[in-house]
Amino acid sequence: MTGLPAYDPTLYKGSAAYYLRGRPPYSLALREAVSAECALDGTGRLLDVGCGPGVLAAELAPVVYEAVGLDPDPDMLTEAARHAARAGVTNVRWVQGLAEQIPDLNLGIFRLVTFGQSFHWTARERVAESVYDLLEPGGSIVLVGHSVDKRPEPTGPGHPKIPHEAILALIDSYLGSRRRSGQGYQGPPTDRWEAALRRTRFGQPREVVSPGRTDIVQDSDGVLANYLSMSFCAPHLFGDRLDSFEAELRRTLAERSPSGLFWDWPGDTDIVIADKPR
Ligand SMILES: C[S@@+](CC[C@H](N)C(=O)[O-])C[C@H]1O[C@@H](n2cnc3c(N)ncnc32)[C@H](O)[C@@H]1O
Repeated sequence: MTGLPAYDPTLYKGSAAYYLRGRPPYSLALREAVSAECALDGTGRLLDVGCGPGVLAAELAPVVYEAVGLDPDPDMLTEAARHAARAGVTNVRWVQGLAEQIPDLNLGIFRLVTFGQSFHWTARERVAESVYDLLEPGGSIVLVGHSVDKRPEPTGPGHPKIPHEAILALIDSYLGSRRRSGQGYQGPPTDRWEAALRRTRFGQPREVVSPGRTDIVQDSDGVLANYLSMSFCAPHLFGDRLDSFEAELRRTLAERSPSGLFWDWPGDTDIVIADKPR
């Protein structure tokens, strides 16, 4: 049981256009790490669930035969198709749908099923069980996210860090202190992904940490895009106060960095993997 409400199509309304510009990328070693862990040799199929603008699908498509990106948000899929085309990735197709609909989508079988910062949005145990059914023997479910807890903070490129606390306080002043989510509110944080997987046929997963990029620098457009790409700060939530929020955010940023640049440290890339037995 997740206590997750039914999918709300306004969850990321207006966010897709900001996502690739604003969200910090995963580790440069992600593809290598997943390929090694899951013995990818260019022959299997990949399903990327909650693919958003296609970051993981496009990154991993070169090490599989065919990739499918699945997401309920049509604007995210439009961004994903553009992103893949720009990256020269041609072996990926995009399907609009929810993770919970996987059993009905006739997607075929897969070597690898990934979730990049999306597993928590789904009915996790039920979805993991349907992923288990889709995997070929020896195939893997892989959950990817950022984590700042894996080591002491590294040294950055010398710019001030993104002032997240000040920005969150500004968001609170516009939207209230309870985190928004679509037409409602985000539920309380659930337990870790690993705990949910343990409750399924996958059992105990393993964890691999890929070093995060310490060199990500954002200007104020990038910081703004980062926040507008988040469900709790999606553009639609501000209604006709969006311009005012943007202006205040830019002022907040200008006060904190004379160069207008900020260090974005997303943390290392945390990769949680569980295999279906052969
Ligand atoms: C934080 S974004 C992650 C995008 C991308 N995977 C990444 O790694 O950056 C979460 C994505 O999950 C999608 N999503 C939300 N609920 C979902 C569900 N029930 N099934 C599948 N995808 C869902 C959203 O539309 C959004 O694109």
